[in-house]
Amino acid sequence: MLNLFIKKPIAKIVHEAEGKDAKASGKTGLKRTLGSFNLALIGIGAIVGAGIFTMTGAGAAYYAGPAIAYSFVLAGLLCLLAGLCYSEMAVMLPVSGSAYTYSYATLGEFMAWIIGWDLILEYTFGAVIVGHAWGGYFLSLLQKQFGLHLPARVLAFCRGPWETITLVDGTLVRGIWNVPGSLIVLLVGTIVYRGVRGSTFANNLMVFTKLAVILGFVFAGWSVMDPSLWKANPEALGPLQFIPLESPLLKNGREVTGYGWPGVMAGTGVVFLAYIGFDIVATSAQECRNPSRDIPRGIIGSLAVCTALYVLVSLVLTGVVPYKQLGISDPIALGIDRIVSLHGWPAGMQRLISVLVKVGALAGLTSVLITFIYGQSRIFYAMAKDGLLPWFDRLHAGHSTPHVAIAMATVAIAGGVGVLPLSLVGELVSIGTLLAFMIVCAGIPLLRKTNPNAARPFRTPWPCIVGPLGAATCVWVMSALPVDAWIRLALWLAMGVLIYFNYGIRNSKLRKAGQ
Ligand code: ALA
Repeated sequence: MLNLFIKKPIAKIVHEAEGKDAKASGKTGLKRTLGSFNLALIGIGAIVGAGIFTMTGAGAAYYAGPAIAYSFVLAGLLCLLAGLCYSEMAVMLPVSGSAYTYSYATLGEFMAWIIGWDLILEYTFGAVIVGHAWGGYFLSLLQKQFGLHLPARVLAFCRGPWETITLVDGTLVRGIWNVPGSLIVLLVGTIVYRGVRGSTFANNLMVFTKLAVILGFVFAGWSVMDPSLWKANPEALGPLQFIPLESPLLKNGREVTGYGWPGVMAGTGVVFLAYIGFDIVATSAQECRNPSRDIPRGIIGSLAVCTALYVLVSLVLTGVVPYKQLGISDPIALGIDRIVSLHGWPAGMQRLISVLVKVGALAGLTSVLITFIYGQSRIFYAMAKDGLLPWFDRLHAGHSTPHVAIAMATVAIAGGVGVLPLSLVGELVSIGTLLAFMIVCAGIPLLRKTNPNAARPFRTPWPCIVGPLGAATCVWVMSALPVDAWIRLALWLAMGVLIYFNYGIRNSKLRKAGQ
């Protein structure tokens, strides 16, 4: 009988991380080039994107009203619990592969495979969502700011086959392929292919651009916002005034669990997407100069910065636009238009600012793509190094990057952006990510029991509270997601199980070494 729960010894994982295997065999390992500042920027690069530029509006309009700021705080706390657990594991096992590698040491090969497969879901489909948002902002910039009128046959190549576009005369055009979204993914994939130094530079540039836009939005809006718009429930006391008690708006003609505390909770699940990506910091442990110091700083620092930004943006947005008007795809663009007119700035300046905001959004989304393709390729790399996937552990002779893994991830994501509908992938990404977070949180107290003497340069505080609380919170947010999302997750995992039993189990290096 095969042991599905065969565990990779921590000592072996650490040994591989130190590159002893690679040196012994004459190959070069991944380069250690990243410090805590770059890691925090990788984290912010991965986190700030489609979530803040699109989900904040829907979260306020349909779910939480001005109290969407509370939803951001709650989602941030959930991620902080998971982030502390990720930090402990990432530092204990400073290798590529993140939660996949940790579960190989704690829960055994089969669970590790499931987690790895689940992370592939998170990064691939997460990047597909971001590619879609990129294509949407790009088209909007061309049409609204540059006044370009594209003919129907060109527009059909700006959307996937499941979507339609309404022309000025009201005609509906069916999409064929989202070409702008696919092209940006191919471009970003090429940057990542050329090496982590090059992609770090490009990432830093774009992170600074999007931070400038977001901070500009907050500063420009702070002095003209009207705090009375936050008082959705004037009868209540103090901070409770932020929580509307009226009946929520219908979303696409359907009732949703909005307003009141249930709305704040449901809003937490909606804005959770805005935090996905901080775990990518942990996947780069093998490329850090000093993982035990830099990884926790990178994860916790990027989460803290993003939570503060999200709360400020929600306060300004709901302070300049009544929350019921925010259920649109580009709420930040609407917010900036309102801020400009409240300041009484001239029309030319208004146009310039609108262009800058969209360019900032495009830069922000591009940096999310860089980190997601980067993270995805490192998961492929780690799984292939263990023999559970073919080819993806090959390193480029010149750039020292896992080039086959990067090429594969890029092509899969570009194809997904081209044809997959958002309705299929949206909640799937949230549920898949929550599953990974849950396993990491549950793994911390377990690992403290099974490996009490392992070196832990960073220790999660109160692991018996933080771990179970983090896992329980993930389950709670997952339970609020629709049945459809559960079914899609089950189908994805079933596909993974089939691949494992037909390839992974036969080629696992750990198994072969034990024979
Ligand atoms: N957190 C990422 C974003 O909001 C997925 O784009």
